[in-house]
Amino acid sequence: MAFKIFPLISFLFLIFILLAPSGHAKRSIPSGKKTSAFDFIKKLKGCHKGNTTKGIHELKAYLEKFGYLRYPNKTQATDDDFDDILESAIKTYQENYHIKPSGVMDDETISKMTTPRCGVPDIVNGTNYMQPRNRNHKSGSSGVHVVSHYSFFEGEPKWPPSKTHLTYRFLPNVPAVAMDPVARAFQKWQSSTHFTFARAQTDQNSDLVIGFYRGDHGDIDPFDGPGGTLAHAFAPTNGRFHYDADEQWSIGSVADAFDYETVALHEIGHLLGLRHSSVEAAIMYSEISAGQTKNLHEDDIAGIRDLYNL
Ligand SMILES: *[C@@H]1O[C@H](CO)[C@@H](O)[C@H](O)[C@H]1NC(C)=O
Ligand SMILES: *[C@@H]1O[C@H](CO)[C@@H](O)[C@H](O)[C@H]1NC(C)=O
Ligand SMILES: *[C@@H]1O[C@H](CO)[C@@H](O)[C@H](O)[C@H]1NC(C)=O
Ligand SMILES: [Zn+2]
Repeated sequence: MAFKIFPLISFLFLIFILLAPSGHAKRSIPSGKKTSAFDFIKKLKGCHKGNTTKGIHELKAYLEKFGYLRYPNKTQATDDDFDDILESAIKTYQENYHIKPSGVMDDETISKMTTPRCGVPDIVNGTNYMQPRNRNHKSGSSGVHVVSHYSFFEGEPKWPPSKTHLTYRFLPNVPAVAMDPVARAFQKWQSSTHFTFARAQTDQNSDLVIGFYRGDHGDIDPFDGPGGTLAHAFAPTNGRFHYDADEQWSIGSVADAFDYETVALHEIGHLLGLRHSSVEAAIMYSEISAGQTKNLHEDDIAGIRDLYNL
């Protein structure tokens, strides 16, 4: 089965494609207009259980996409009823993003939900990867228990012990200007792990493949135009990492643009086996604002060291 090749998230991506409302299939071309794929959420300001506001079905699709809900009933999934299931999904979202879990679409929730983010879901099949779990860290000789926030994919897929040197290549659709920032991101992971990375030529085989896409691109989650979802990547050992070509990309911090290197650092984390962290300063936090740059954080390093027993 082809699905076996792509760890679990492909399955969810496929579900999403089947359930996606038509709004998500809409293509937009960068026009300098500052609209974002998540802007529809702003219209839902103040909504709470019992409301039947136009656009609530889009919020349901958004929360379904990132794993927060799944309606057994197709009618409920596509109507504008703010029901119990939606309220409970919003509360879970609020807990994950450190907002008071009121179940109401308050300002803070709207601000978080409209922030551009990675396409990898926060919850899969009911497993909330952003909830802290107690891990048994060995900190010095004290052996204290520390609550950590990094997470792994289901079944903890990782590169085998023999595979510490990984090659990567750029598909021909990647702009040349993106290549140095991506190389710097690999360098940063190399300095903090046992991995070494080297670039392969475009026509050679490689462990990792970086591409640039807009909208639908085959068997996985479609991109959504400017803003919204910025990039996504697969768990080991799939190796694919895709940028959304509809974004305004930049080298370093530029207003209204997203930093190639920061997003590459995040997506490489997925390629190595990390999922999202609820630590806002961590590179594996799901969201990033335009103009923001970030580096690896101790939570990211602790995660990769734990996964590979470093
Ligand atoms: C939600 O419903 C309340 C009544 O329960 C109403 O007053 C309010 O205007 C509605 N809000 C929206 C955003 O539709
Ligand atoms: C699905 O939900 C709708 C609206 O709440 C309801 O009328 C319908 O009976 C439900 N269908 C099933 C199979 O539960
Ligand atoms: C989700 O969970 C069910 C039952 O726990 C399992 O049968 C199914 O394979 C899981 N799906 C994925 C995509 O992990
Ligand atoms: Zn991500």
